[in-house]
Amino acid sequence: MTNVIDGNAVADGIRADLEDCVDTLDNAGVTPGLATVLVGDDPASETYVSMKQRDCEEVGMNGIHVELDGDAAPDELYDTIDDLNDDSSVHGYLVQDPVPDQIDYREVIRRIDPAKDVDGFHPENVGRLVAGDARFKPCTPHGVQKLLDAADVDPEGKDVTIVGRSRIVGKPLANLLMQKTDGGNATVTVCHSRTQDLAEKTRRADIVVAAVGAPELVDGSMLSEGTTVIDVGVNRVDADTDEQRSSSSQNSSSSDDTEKGYELVGDVEFDSAKEKASAITPVPGGVGPMTRAMLLYNTVKAASQQED
Ligand code: GUN
Repeated sequence: MTNVIDGNAVADGIRADLEDCVDTLDNAGVTPGLATVLVGDDPASETYVSMKQRDCEEVGMNGIHVELDGDAAPDELYDTIDDLNDDSSVHGYLVQDPVPDQIDYREVIRRIDPAKDVDGFHPENVGRLVAGDARFKPCTPHGVQKLLDAADVDPEGKDVTIVGRSRIVGKPLANLLMQKTDGGNATVTVCHSRTQDLAEKTRRADIVVAAVGAPELVDGSMLSEGTTVIDVGVNRVDADTDEQRSSSSQNSSSSDDTEKGYELVGDVEFDSAKEKASAITPVPGGVGPMTRAMLLYNTVKAASQQED
């Protein structure tokens, strides 16, 4: 029987633990605060940030949301960032990616106070992660580690193939999985658009993580019997035209998605992959809820660090 890993249940458990931490901090006079900044009105991003805000409320944290017009000048965003850096009630914050073309996201990240960078995207935090001294583990890779743990799959000594080399998922996850720590010690192969014979790399893996933003790229024929499959992809496939947009991790499905004209599919062709896998994450309901739970986790960590 294949274990279909329930990301919502694992995320619920993490949120329950965090509620206790929030209570303890609250009793000490500190309410962890998470701010989200959205520039423009991308519908998917609007959904993601509203879910992050709802999560904050659920665990008793302060949620602060800042919205800027899609034609906002870079300086307007920089001023917002400077204010958030100075605001002691905001322990962590993020600027939702993507931002409009007039804004350079890399410059945005560099301006965020690394101590409040709960995404873990700031170069200082990326450097610390690679050095094995992470301040904040990036949310999706950390969520993947927690899902493996919940499924009783220890990466130590295993061959892991990651499909996708993104800044947000593939690269940091490769780093975490190869480190000499619990949840690491794996042998990691990272595949990308120029990889030759992808199926050969996925077939030899004990664990496959698909995080490339290509709908149903990995199917059962590319897997060996007993593989653990983690699907990070969230692709909105237009129900009528097959057009698709993808994001890396933050799935936000509701039961009426098809009524909105799109369906959500992962980077893995679920039915054929499930035939081969010993454990597999669904889309939605796998990695997406974990990304959000780990954002709360990082915010609680930031609050504790800033109050020390
Ligand atoms: N857009 C898609 N995923 C993410 C994420 O993890 N953080 C931010 N800030 N934007 C995103």
